[in-house]
Amino acid sequence: MHPVSKGTVLVTGASSGIGAALAKQFAKNDYDLVITARREKNLQELKDSLDSGINVEIVKCDLTNPSGADELIKAIETSRIDIDILINNAGIAVTGKFDELDQKDIDDLLFLNILALTRLTRHYLTTMVQRGSGRIMNVASVAAFQPVPSMNVYAASKAYVLSLTESLSEELRGTGVSVSALCPGLTRTKMVDSLGVQNSPPFLVSSAEDVAKEGYDALMAREVIRIPGLANQAAVTWAQHQPRWLIRGLGGLFSRLKP
Ligand SMILES: NC(=O)c1ccc[n+]([C@@H]2O[C@H](COP(=O)([O-])OP(=O)(O)OC[C@H]3O[C@@H](n4cnc5c(N)ncnc54)[C@H](OP(=O)(O)O)[C@@H]3O)[C@@H](O)[C@H]2O)c1
Repeated sequence: MHPVSKGTVLVTGASSGIGAALAKQFAKNDYDLVITARREKNLQELKDSLDSGINVEIVKCDLTNPSGADELIKAIETSRIDIDILINNAGIAVTGKFDELDQKDIDDLLFLNILALTRLTRHYLTTMVQRGSGRIMNVASVAAFQPVPSMNVYAASKAYVLSLTESLSEELRGTGVSVSALCPGLTRTKMVDSLGVQNSPPFLVSSAEDVAKEGYDALMAREVIRIPGLANQAAVTWAQHQPRWLIRGLGGLFSRLKP
Protein backbone atom coordinates (compact mmCIF):
# COMPACT_ATOMS: atom_id res chain seq x y z
CA MET A 1 0.00 0.00 0.00
CA HIS A 2 1.29 3.50 -0.77
CA PRO A 3 1.21 6.09 2.05
CA VAL A 4 -2.18 7.68 1.26
CA SER A 5 -3.91 4.51 0.03
CA LYS A 6 -7.43 3.99 1.34
CA GLY A 7 -7.15 0.21 0.79
CA THR A 8 -6.92 -2.35 -2.00
CA VAL A 9 -9.69 -3.11 -4.49
CA LEU A 10 -9.91 -6.31 -6.52
CA VAL A 11 -11.70 -5.68 -9.83
CA THR A 12 -12.55 -8.69 -12.00
CA GLY A 13 -13.05 -8.09 -15.72
CA ALA A 14 -10.94 -4.93 -15.60
CA SER A 15 -9.56 -5.29 -19.14
CA SER A 16 -12.42 -3.33 -20.79
CA GLY A 17 -15.83 -1.71 -20.38
CA ILE A 18 -17.40 -1.14 -16.96
CA GLY A 19 -14.59 -2.98 -15.11
CA ALA A 20 -11.86 -0.77 -16.59
CA ALA A 21 -13.94 2.33 -15.81
CA LEU A 22 -14.48 1.13 -12.23
CA ALA A 23 -10.73 0.53 -11.80
CA LYS A 24 -10.06 4.13 -12.98
CA GLN A 25 -12.68 5.44 -10.56
CA PHE A 26 -11.02 3.71 -7.58
CA ALA A 27 -7.53 4.76 -8.71
CA LYS A 28 -8.72 8.39 -8.89
CA ASN A 29 -9.93 8.04 -5.31
CA ASP A 30 -6.56 6.79 -3.98
CA TYR A 31 -7.18 3.05 -3.82
CA ASP A 32 -4.56 0.47 -4.74
CA LEU A 33 -5.76 -2.11 -7.24
CA VAL A 34 -5.60 -5.76 -8.17
CA ILE A 35 -6.93 -5.98 -11.73
CA THR A 36 -7.72 -9.28 -13.39
CA ALA A 37 -9.02 -10.65 -16.72
CA ARG A 38 -7.64 -12.80 -19.55
CA ARG A 39 -6.32 -9.98 -21.80
CA GLU A 40 -3.07 -9.12 -20.02
CA LYS A 41 -2.11 -6.50 -22.63
CA ASN A 42 -5.28 -4.49 -21.87
CA LEU A 43 -4.60 -4.74 -18.13
CA GLN A 44 -1.03 -3.48 -18.67
CA GLU A 45 -2.34 -0.56 -20.77
CA LEU A 46 -4.83 0.27 -18.01
CA LYS A 47 -2.07 0.15 -15.40
CA ASP A 48 0.16 2.42 -17.52
CA SER A 49 -2.68 4.94 -17.89
CA LEU A 50 -3.19 5.25 -14.10
CA ASP A 51 -1.51 7.62 -11.65
CA SER A 52 1.85 6.08 -10.74
CA GLY A 53 1.16 7.00 -7.07
CA ILE A 54 -0.99 3.92 -6.56
CA ASN A 55 0.02 0.25 -6.53
CA VAL A 56 -1.51 -1.84 -9.29
CA GLU A 57 -1.08 -5.62 -9.38
CA ILE A 58 -2.05 -7.49 -12.55
CA VAL A 59 -3.25 -11.10 -12.32
CA LYS A 60 -4.05 -12.83 -15.59
CA CYS A 61 -6.84 -15.33 -14.98
CA ASP A 62 -9.57 -17.20 -16.84
CA LEU A 63 -12.57 -17.36 -14.52
CA THR A 64 -14.51 -19.78 -16.75
CA ASN A 65 -11.87 -22.30 -15.77
CA PRO A 66 -13.17 -24.33 -12.74
CA SER A 67 -9.92 -23.62 -10.84
CA GLY A 68 -9.73 -19.97 -12.03
CA ALA A 69 -11.15 -18.29 -8.91
CA ASP A 70 -8.90 -20.36 -6.61
CA GLU A 71 -5.84 -19.51 -8.75
CA LEU A 72 -6.71 -15.81 -8.49
CA ILE A 73 -7.12 -16.05 -4.68
CA LYS A 74 -3.78 -17.92 -4.45
CA ALA A 75 -1.94 -15.35 -6.58
CA ILE A 76 -3.23 -12.53 -4.37
CA GLU A 77 -2.23 -14.41 -1.21
CA THR A 78 1.24 -15.07 -2.63
CA SER A 79 1.65 -11.32 -3.21
CA ARG A 80 0.58 -10.79 0.46
CA ILE A 81 -2.21 -8.39 -0.51
CA ASP A 82 -5.30 -7.90 1.68
CA ILE A 83 -8.47 -7.12 -0.26
CA ASP A 84 -10.62 -4.37 1.28
CA ILE A 85 -13.12 -4.11 -1.58
CA LEU A 86 -14.17 -6.83 -4.03
CA ILE A 87 -15.79 -5.87 -7.34
CA ASN A 88 -17.29 -8.90 -9.09
CA ASN A 89 -17.68 -7.33 -12.52
CA ALA A 90 -16.50 -9.98 -15.03
CA GLY A 91 -19.42 -11.36 -16.98
CA ILE A 92 -20.46 -12.59 -20.40
CA ALA A 93 -23.75 -12.78 -22.28
CA VAL A 94 -25.10 -15.24 -24.81
CA THR A 95 -28.15 -14.57 -26.94
CA GLY A 96 -30.51 -16.83 -28.85
CA LYS A 97 -33.11 -19.51 -28.32
CA PHE A 98 -32.12 -21.86 -25.51
CA ASP A 99 -32.12 -25.04 -27.62
CA GLU A 100 -29.92 -23.38 -30.26
CA LEU A 101 -27.22 -22.19 -27.85
CA ASP A 102 -23.82 -23.83 -27.75
CA GLN A 103 -23.49 -25.93 -24.55
CA LYS A 104 -19.93 -24.63 -24.00
CA ASP A 105 -21.17 -21.03 -24.14
CA ILE A 106 -23.81 -21.82 -21.52
CA ASP A 107 -21.27 -23.55 -19.25
CA ASP A 108 -18.78 -20.66 -19.59
CA LEU A 109 -21.50 -18.15 -18.71
CA LEU A 110 -22.62 -20.11 -15.64
CA PHE A 111 -19.02 -20.55 -14.45
CA LEU A 112 -18.13 -16.89 -14.87
CA ASN A 113 -21.37 -15.10 -13.94
CA ILE A 114 -22.35 -17.43 -11.09
CA LEU A 115 -19.73 -19.88 -9.80
CA ALA A 116 -16.63 -17.66 -9.91
CA LEU A 117 -18.59 -14.72 -8.45
CA THR A 118 -19.90 -16.94 -5.62
CA ARG A 119 -16.47 -18.42 -4.87
CA LEU A 120 -14.77 -14.99 -4.73
CA THR A 121 -17.61 -13.52 -2.66
CA ARG A 122 -17.49 -16.37 -0.13
CA HIS A 123 -13.70 -16.19 0.23
CA TYR A 124 -13.35 -12.42 0.63
CA LEU A 125 -16.60 -11.97 2.60
CA THR A 126 -15.29 -14.43 5.20
CA THR A 127 -12.01 -12.56 5.69
CA MET A 128 -13.82 -9.19 5.68
CA VAL A 129 -16.24 -10.35 8.41
CA GLN A 130 -13.29 -11.60 10.52
CA ARG A 131 -11.67 -8.17 10.07
CA GLY A 132 -14.97 -6.34 10.76
CA SER A 133 -14.80 -4.20 7.61
CA GLY A 134 -15.13 -4.44 3.86
CA ARG A 135 -17.31 -3.86 0.84
CA ILE A 136 -18.37 -6.08 -2.07
CA MET A 137 -20.08 -5.02 -5.28
CA ASN A 138 -21.63 -7.52 -7.66
CA VAL A 139 -22.38 -6.28 -11.16
CA ALA A 140 -25.83 -7.61 -12.06
CA SER A 141 -28.04 -5.96 -14.70
CA VAL A 142 -31.54 -4.58 -15.24
CA ALA A 143 -32.05 -8.04 -16.77
CA ALA A 144 -31.95 -9.37 -13.19
CA PHE A 145 -35.46 -8.04 -12.51
CA GLN A 146 -37.42 -9.99 -15.14
CA PRO A 147 -37.05 -12.89 -17.55
CA VAL A 148 -35.55 -11.93 -20.93
CA PRO A 149 -36.52 -14.33 -23.73
CA SER A 150 -33.54 -14.67 -26.15
CA MET A 151 -31.19 -13.70 -23.29
CA ASN A 152 -32.60 -16.51 -21.15
CA VAL A 153 -29.48 -17.87 -19.40
CA TYR A 154 -27.89 -14.42 -19.03
CA ALA A 155 -30.98 -12.91 -17.37
CA ALA A 156 -31.30 -15.96 -15.07
CA SER A 157 -27.64 -15.61 -14.04
CA LYS A 158 -28.13 -11.93 -13.19
CA ALA A 159 -31.31 -12.77 -11.20
CA TYR A 160 -29.08 -15.11 -9.15
CA VAL A 161 -26.54 -12.32 -8.61
CA LEU A 162 -29.22 -9.88 -7.45
CA SER A 163 -30.93 -12.43 -5.18
CA LEU A 164 -27.64 -13.51 -3.58
CA THR A 165 -26.62 -9.89 -3.03
CA GLU A 166 -29.91 -9.02 -1.34
CA SER A 167 -29.79 -12.08 0.95
CA LEU A 168 -26.19 -11.37 1.95
CA SER A 169 -26.90 -7.70 2.60
CA GLU A 170 -29.30 -8.77 5.37
CA GLU A 171 -27.06 -11.54 6.75
CA LEU A 172 -24.20 -9.04 7.00
CA ARG A 173 -26.04 -6.46 9.12
CA GLY A 174 -23.87 -5.32 12.01
CA THR A 175 -20.67 -6.93 10.69
CA GLY A 176 -19.08 -3.83 9.14
CA VAL A 177 -19.24 -5.52 5.72
CA SER A 178 -21.68 -4.47 3.01
CA VAL A 179 -22.66 -5.95 -0.33
CA SER A 180 -24.18 -3.99 -3.21
CA ALA A 181 -25.61 -4.89 -6.61
CA LEU A 182 -24.95 -2.57 -9.52
CA CYS A 183 -27.69 -3.10 -12.13
CA PRO A 184 -26.81 -1.27 -15.35
CA GLY A 185 -29.02 -1.07 -18.40
CA LEU A 186 -27.53 -0.96 -21.90
CA THR A 187 -23.97 0.35 -21.59
CA ARG A 188 -21.59 1.09 -24.47
CA THR A 189 -18.99 -1.72 -24.11
CA LYS A 190 -17.52 -4.64 -26.03
CA MET A 191 -20.35 -6.84 -24.70
CA VAL A 192 -23.04 -4.62 -26.23
CA ASP A 193 -21.12 -4.42 -29.53
CA SER A 194 -21.06 -8.22 -29.65
CA LEU A 195 -24.84 -8.38 -29.07
CA GLY A 196 -25.57 -6.11 -32.04
CA VAL A 197 -27.70 -3.64 -30.04
CA GLN A 198 -25.43 -0.64 -30.65
CA ASN A 199 -28.14 0.99 -32.80
CA SER A 200 -30.41 1.53 -29.78
CA PRO A 201 -31.56 5.14 -29.13
CA PRO A 202 -28.68 7.07 -27.50
CA PHE A 203 -30.75 8.05 -24.42
CA LEU A 204 -31.07 4.34 -23.62
CA VAL A 205 -27.32 3.66 -23.78
CA SER A 206 -25.07 4.77 -20.90
CA SER A 207 -21.31 5.25 -20.95
CA ALA A 208 -19.16 2.85 -18.93
CA GLU A 209 -17.75 5.89 -17.09
CA ASP A 210 -21.19 7.07 -15.90
CA VAL A 211 -22.12 3.55 -14.78
CA ALA A 212 -18.81 3.18 -12.92
CA LYS A 213 -19.26 6.53 -11.15
CA GLU A 214 -22.74 5.42 -9.97
CA GLY A 215 -21.29 2.08 -8.88
CA TYR A 216 -18.56 3.79 -6.88
CA ASP A 217 -21.05 6.13 -5.16
CA ALA A 218 -23.44 3.25 -4.36
CA LEU A 219 -20.65 1.13 -2.90
CA MET A 220 -19.40 4.00 -0.73
CA ALA A 221 -22.97 4.68 0.49
CA ARG A 222 -23.39 0.91 1.15
CA GLU A 223 -26.56 0.91 -0.99
CA VAL A 224 -27.91 -2.58 -1.65
CA ILE A 225 -29.22 -1.95 -5.20
CA ARG A 226 -28.21 0.80 -7.63
CA ILE A 227 -29.76 1.11 -11.08
CA PRO A 228 -27.80 3.73 -13.06
CA GLY A 229 -29.83 6.17 -15.16
CA LEU A 230 -33.37 7.55 -14.84
CA ALA A 231 -34.71 5.69 -17.91
CA ASN A 232 -33.53 2.36 -16.47
CA GLN A 233 -34.94 3.14 -13.01
CA ALA A 234 -38.30 4.08 -14.56
CA ALA A 235 -38.40 0.92 -16.70
CA VAL A 236 -37.59 -1.37 -13.76
CA THR A 237 -40.10 0.38 -11.46
CA TRP A 238 -42.84 0.19 -14.11
CA ALA A 239 -42.14 -3.50 -14.81
CA GLN A 240 -42.24 -4.37 -11.10
CA HIS A 241 -45.79 -3.02 -10.88
CA GLN A 242 -47.10 -5.14 -13.76
CA PRO A 243 -48.29 -8.76 -13.66
CA ARG A 244 -45.52 -11.24 -14.46
CA TRP A 245 -47.45 -12.68 -17.44
CA LEU A 246 -47.45 -9.22 -19.09
CA ILE A 247 -43.72 -8.58 -18.64
CA ARG A 248 -42.88 -12.12 -19.79
CA GLY A 249 -45.23 -11.76 -22.77
CA LEU A 250 -43.81 -8.37 -23.81
CA GLY A 251 -40.29 -9.80 -23.60
CA GLY A 252 -41.33 -12.71 -25.80
CA LEU A 253 -42.94 -10.33 -28.30
CA PHE A 254 -39.82 -8.13 -28.56
CA SER A 255 -37.59 -11.18 -29.01
CA ARG A 256 -39.80 -12.44 -31.87
CA LEU A 257 -39.84 -9.00 -33.55
CA LYS A 258 -36.03 -8.63 -33.47
CA PRO A 259 -34.48 -8.89 -36.95
N1 LIG B 1 -22.75 -3.56 -21.33
C1 LIG B 1 -23.98 -3.66 -20.87
O1 LIG B 1 -24.95 -3.22 -21.50
C2 LIG B 1 -24.22 -4.30 -19.53
C3 LIG B 1 -25.49 -4.15 -18.96
C4 LIG B 1 -25.75 -4.73 -17.73
C5 LIG B 1 -24.75 -5.44 -17.07
N2 LIG B 1 -23.53 -5.57 -17.66
C6 LIG B 1 -22.51 -6.35 -16.91
O2 LIG B 1 -21.36 -5.57 -16.75
C7 LIG B 1 -20.24 -6.44 -16.57
C8 LIG B 1 -19.09 -5.96 -17.43
O3 LIG B 1 -19.44 -6.10 -18.80
P1 LIG B 1 -19.08 -5.01 -19.91
O4 LIG B 1 -20.34 -4.54 -20.49
O5 LIG B 1 -18.12 -4.02 -19.37
O6 LIG B 1 -18.42 -5.94 -21.04
P2 LIG B 1 -16.92 -6.16 -21.52
O7 LIG B 1 -16.29 -4.89 -21.94
O8 LIG B 1 -17.02 -7.29 -22.49
O9 LIG B 1 -16.19 -6.65 -20.20
C9 LIG B 1 -16.30 -7.96 -19.69
C10 LIG B 1 -15.10 -8.20 -18.81
O10 LIG B 1 -15.19 -9.56 -18.32
C11 LIG B 1 -13.95 -10.20 -18.57
N3 LIG B 1 -14.10 -11.62 -18.85
C12 LIG B 1 -14.82 -12.19 -19.86
N4 LIG B 1 -14.62 -13.51 -19.87
C13 LIG B 1 -13.75 -13.76 -18.85
C14 LIG B 1 -13.13 -14.95 -18.36
N5 LIG B 1 -13.35 -16.14 -18.93
N6 LIG B 1 -12.29 -14.86 -17.28
C15 LIG B 1 -12.04 -13.67 -16.71
N7 LIG B 1 -12.59 -12.51 -17.13
C16 LIG B 1 -13.43 -12.57 -18.20
C17 LIG B 1 -13.41 -9.52 -19.82
O11 LIG B 1 -11.98 -9.65 -19.85
P3 LIG B 1 -11.16 -10.63 -20.83
O12 LIG B 1 -11.95 -10.79 -22.09
O13 LIG B 1 -9.86 -9.91 -21.01
O14 LIG B 1 -11.00 -11.89 -20.05
C18 LIG B 1 -13.80 -8.07 -19.59
O15 LIG B 1 -12.83 -7.41 -18.81
C19 LIG B 1 -20.74 -7.85 -16.89
O16 LIG B 1 -20.98 -8.55 -15.70
C20 LIG B 1 -22.05 -7.59 -17.63
O17 LIG B 1 -22.95 -8.65 -17.51
C21 LIG B 1 -23.24 -5.02 -18.85
